[in-house]
Amino acid sequence: MHCSGPLAGLTALLTLVAFPVQIKTDSTVSTELYGDIENTEYGDFESLSQTRERQQHLCHREVPSVFFQTERDSPVRGNGSTIYFHRIEVCCAGYRRDPYANECVPDCSASSPDNCRNGFCRSPGVCECFAEFVRNEHGACIHTCPIACQHGRCYLNGTCVCHQNFVLDQETRQFCRPKCSQSCGTHEECVAPGQCDCSPGYRRTPDLGCQPVCAPDCGFGKCVAPNQCECFAGFIKRPNWNVCEAECYLNCENGLCESRYKCHCREGYRYDVNTTSCLPECSDNCGQGNGVCIAPGVCRCFRGYEVHGAECRPKCESRFCGKYGRCVAPEICGCGEGQQHCRNGSCDDIEHCSCPSGETHFIDRCLKADRLSQHLNTSEKRKHFNRQLAYEFNALIGRLFNF
Ligand SMILES: *[C@@H]1O[C@H](CO)[C@@H](O)[C@H](O)[C@H]1NC(C)=O
Ligand SMILES: *[C@@H]1O[C@H](CO)[C@@H](O)[C@H](O)[C@H]1NC(C)=O
Ligand SMILES: *[C@@H]1O[C@H](CO)[C@@H](O)[C@H](O)[C@H]1NC(C)=O
Ligand SMILES: *[C@@H]1O[C@H](CO)[C@@H](O)[C@H](O)[C@H]1NC(C)=O
Ligand SMILES: *[C@@H]1O[C@H](CO)[C@@H](O)[C@H](O)[C@H]1NC(C)=O
Repeated sequence: MHCSGPLAGLTALLTLVAFPVQIKTDSTVSTELYGDIENTEYGDFESLSQTRERQQHLCHREVPSVFFQTERDSPVRGNGSTIYFHRIEVCCAGYRRDPYANECVPDCSASSPDNCRNGFCRSPGVCECFAEFVRNEHGACIHTCPIACQHGRCYLNGTCVCHQNFVLDQETRQFCRPKCSQSCGTHEECVAPGQCDCSPGYRRTPDLGCQPVCAPDCGFGKCVAPNQCECFAGFIKRPNWNVCEAECYLNCENGLCESRYKCHCREGYRYDVNTTSCLPECSDNCGQGNGVCIAPGVCRCFRGYEVHGAECRPKCESRFCGKYGRCVAPEICGCGEGQQHCRNGSCDDIEHCSCPSGETHFIDRCLKADRLSQHLNTSEKRKHFNRQLAYEFNALIGRLFNF
């Protein structure tokens, strides 16, 4: 075991101290803010790229740039309306990205349970069944006779005869629906023989029978039909957003504008002044900022960190830190009380950095002695060791003096 103390390198380093440091300051912080989700709008004079976007059903969306951060100490400067937003291209509402063709195609998933399988989704929510298929009461394209008939059987002449307690769909005469002896209530339909339940988009309430569902909640308004809100006096809906709010200048994404200046965040979100929006909240800020909170309670860790429950902790993969060490930063074990850094080594039972055979401990790491010059061949590296030397001094000795 070779364990040279950190002070061994001190004389070699004294000549390296003091290099000019350039600090770049960011003086161009924009304060302009626009709406949170912007759909591209087309005037009379559209540019070529706008035409392309419209033909391809591409819209723009502003996403908090913090969601794009992958390195702990390099925040992302957004290219959106402010530096706190990235402006990205997404498929417009009603379209989805086809992963095979990588283009935006109409989406029928809201009106067809299996997204228009056995049919052609012509435009958002409009599913046209292929020949020999018919739309059933749930919007799915199902086989017709002579192949099959839902809740019935096919005769050779092509007609569908329903099983007991089912009746032929009056409009298509191609499939059978369950039969209810008494007629079902308001916003109800016959879902199985003799059984009524709420129609799609409605939910049973204890007092008022089946009531329409609006998701998200209407806010300052009333849900009058599935996903249709009627605002209370003085409240408005923003473009492409079916929620009633006060008129306000804040983005207030994941929240509700209560007044001109107040954004009330949904549960699991907290207000962020930079984006004037609500960002998801994670306990302990994902481990003192070692990751970014991408959904309530869900951290995505920065490079070099891994998720432990609800926080991100540094990862020390190259070597196990040992019984007496603790991973203090990515690939850096900390030994003993002062957590003396031990990169590429592990901590032994006398709280020293123990290096693999053939390597020696130099300030904060283990290295092969003949490689030392390579570790000092740029001013950046020398600066690192100068900073690190101060840290190690404090970790080992400084704390004894109670600075
Ligand atoms: C902004 O940055 C995002 C993320 O890197 C990128 O996908 C997008 O194309 C950029 N937008 C513009 C308008 O440059
Ligand atoms: C088809 O055949 C069934 C059973 O033989 C018969 O009841 C029905 O009337 C026939 N329909 C037509 C359109 O010929
Ligand atoms: C707002 O952004 C600045 C950097 O532009 C950052 O220092 C600050 O921590 C951010 N504030 C919050 C609440 O995230
Ligand atoms: C030493 O650690 C660094 C990361 O700090 C790693 O990239 C490198 O591969 C390690 N070297 C050895 C010899 O384990
Ligand atoms: C410094 O040493 C590294 C090997 O550790 C080598 O890759 C690099 O080219 C050297 N840089 C200079 C400026 O000599």
